[in-house]
Amino acid sequence: MTEPTLQARTETAAPTWKPQIAAIVCNWCTYAGADMAGTTRREYPASVRLLRVPCSGRVNPLFILKAFEQGADGVLVSGCHPGDCHYVQGNYFARRRFAAFRSLLNFLGLDPRRVHFSWISASEGIKWARVVGDVTRAVTEAGPLTDWGRASSPAQVTLPEPPAPRPQPAAAELEAVTGHVRELAASLLREGKVSFVLGWAPGPSPGQTIPAFIQRPEDAATLVFDTHSHADLAAFLAGPRKVSGKVAVLVKACDARAATTLLAEGQLVREDVVLVGVSCPGMWRDDRLAYRCHSCDGEVGALCDFTVSAAGVQPGALPTGAKRATGPDPRDLQNAHLESLPAAQRWAFWQEQFADCVRCYACRAVCPMCYCGSCISEQHRPQWVPTSIDGRGNTAWNLVRAYHLSGRCVGCDECERVCPANIRLDLINRRLALELEQRFDYHAGTDPEGAPPLATFRPDDPQEFIY
Ligand code: FES
Repeated sequence: MTEPTLQARTETAAPTWKPQIAAIVCNWCTYAGADMAGTTRREYPASVRLLRVPCSGRVNPLFILKAFEQGADGVLVSGCHPGDCHYVQGNYFARRRFAAFRSLLNFLGLDPRRVHFSWISASEGIKWARVVGDVTRAVTEAGPLTDWGRASSPAQVTLPEPPAPRPQPAAAELEAVTGHVRELAASLLREGKVSFVLGWAPGPSPGQTIPAFIQRPEDAATLVFDTHSHADLAAFLAGPRKVSGKVAVLVKACDARAATTLLAEGQLVREDVVLVGVSCPGMWRDDRLAYRCHSCDGEVGALCDFTVSAAGVQPGALPTGAKRATGPDPRDLQNAHLESLPAAQRWAFWQEQFADCVRCYACRAVCPMCYCGSCISEQHRPQWVPTSIDGRGNTAWNLVRAYHLSGRCVGCDECERVCPANIRLDLINRRLALELEQRFDYHAGTDPEGAPPLATFRPDDPQEFIY
């Protein structure tokens, strides 16, 4: 028998790549199940690194992000079977969070073979060994994760153009609405029914409006409403009160949904505000209708105390017959196109988008649902979201922002409008909103008393993605 050559021996001994998989497991079931696999001498691949948490309900999607960011090629999250959680409901809540986060990662184009979920009990050592084997095979097929935070090749994606907008409303119609808004604001202030009116006033450049706080009846004449009254004024309502007395706030249909969600989240006391719905013909951006407005009927909702239209002021919402006709939502058409692409191309598309982010946080500042006193993106001990303006930091920030808004975003698209890098945040928000609508029958901004979808659960929530 001939001796192998030096070259052949070197090739034989060359290290073959093995995936690194972070397994985030609950202490009471899966960890014990993994231990059971060991004590019963079950063999499984040595590819997983266990991270033990008290309960799957403790698993924040940030843990998954961090694992990828720190070099994991795949992540497995596992807890007790539904009904077996040692904290009774932890895994039910976790299941909803995992569904939303998984859907976000899929939409962004992360290879679905990299993220896995399972329920494994303390007695299921055999299942643990099998799941680790399956997950290792899937991650091995996906290969090393080399494009986290960067596009490995140009995405070359052209999104479909939105449908043609309907004609702009007549100037006289908008002037009539403005006149009625001024009259109502002045009378509310004069009669002492409110201390402030929050509306829109002309901005520094033509065709621009800015938020305006009116305290005196005579200042009501500065208010205006037109097709550039973009700012979602509900953004000023959340958080600790800085003024005393009631505030009247002008709301378009999307702003009314934001106010409804703030009520549902306990950020707003209904008795503190007078909601003045404004019959909205849609907002224009340069020469095009805003994406969201194609499919919006302009209905401000029954929550409003008054509705202002060209015809005048009336208590409550507009009669149903006054709603606008709607068309297909361009965001859905564009998302459908993105989802028809291979995952790798989609990932490259979003990485190219995120690469332009300058971390100005304008999206956060303008969002009515971003009201936390201290944002996790700026916390340093521990630093969950890198503050660096690079692929790693920008990917983490944009994922965290999107996930934080899942089930809460009301689709006003203000984040996309103010983004100086033109990142299509609206597409991500819209995709997640649809996912939660379909999965949990939850429509953000419609029920001031409904629990947000990730703050509740049903024992029979779908779990087709969990082993
Ligand atoms: Fe295991 Fe809650 S204790 S999932």
